[in-house]
Amino acid sequence: MERKLDIVISQEEIENKLKEMGNTISRDYKGKDLVLISVLRGSVYFAVDLSRNLSIPFSLDFISISRYGEKTDTAGIVRITKDLDLNVSNKHVLVIEDIVDTGLSLSYLIRNLETRNPASIKVCTMLNIKARRIVNVPLDYKGFDLPDIFVVGYGLDYNEGYRNLPYIAEFNKNIDKESQ
Ligand code: IMP
Ligand code: MG
Repeated sequence: MERKLDIVISQEEIENKLKEMGNTISRDYKGKDLVLISVLRGSVYFAVDLSRNLSIPFSLDFISISRYGEKTDTAGIVRITKDLDLNVSNKHVLVIEDIVDTGLSLSYLIRNLETRNPASIKVCTMLNIKARRIVNVPLDYKGFDLPDIFVVGYGLDYNEGYRNLPYIAEFNKNIDKESQ
């Protein structure tokens, strides 16, 4: 059954933000050896669109991490399920995230990348949900702040669905539970 989704961030707002962030990042990394690291799978749409808004040379690579739930003793246990193909030693690394929530995945990823001796590591996220943060992670470039809601679209999924929506919408997971 089709369900109605409430748009939280429109396609136009996303496009404007991409231009703005693209200009800032192009200015900040001018003359530097930049590697964009897109965290699979949610950030792919954002990373690709952002990269199209850069006016400087860069390399693009992908990494995939998985994390166990928050409420168990395994909270914070993260592992790499697909590693980078490129060597980032002496490169300026910019991690591209879809959303920073608890911060657990990102803080693990940053610690892991630090061991590879990059020239610098910064983080660019499209969305930030500060209210759900468990560990503090510095966000260098941030698209939009959101309240404590679950969202889908523009790469973000619910059970692998909705990633291709051109906007970001609030998703009520309880509707699925109620109809079961
Ligand atoms: P965390 O910051 O370690 O909690 O992990 C954040 C990851 O969980 C993101 O990269 C998303 O893949 C996923 N995630 C967190 N919040 C949402 C949401 O509201 N919608 C869809 N995916 C989410
Ligand atoms: Mg993610």
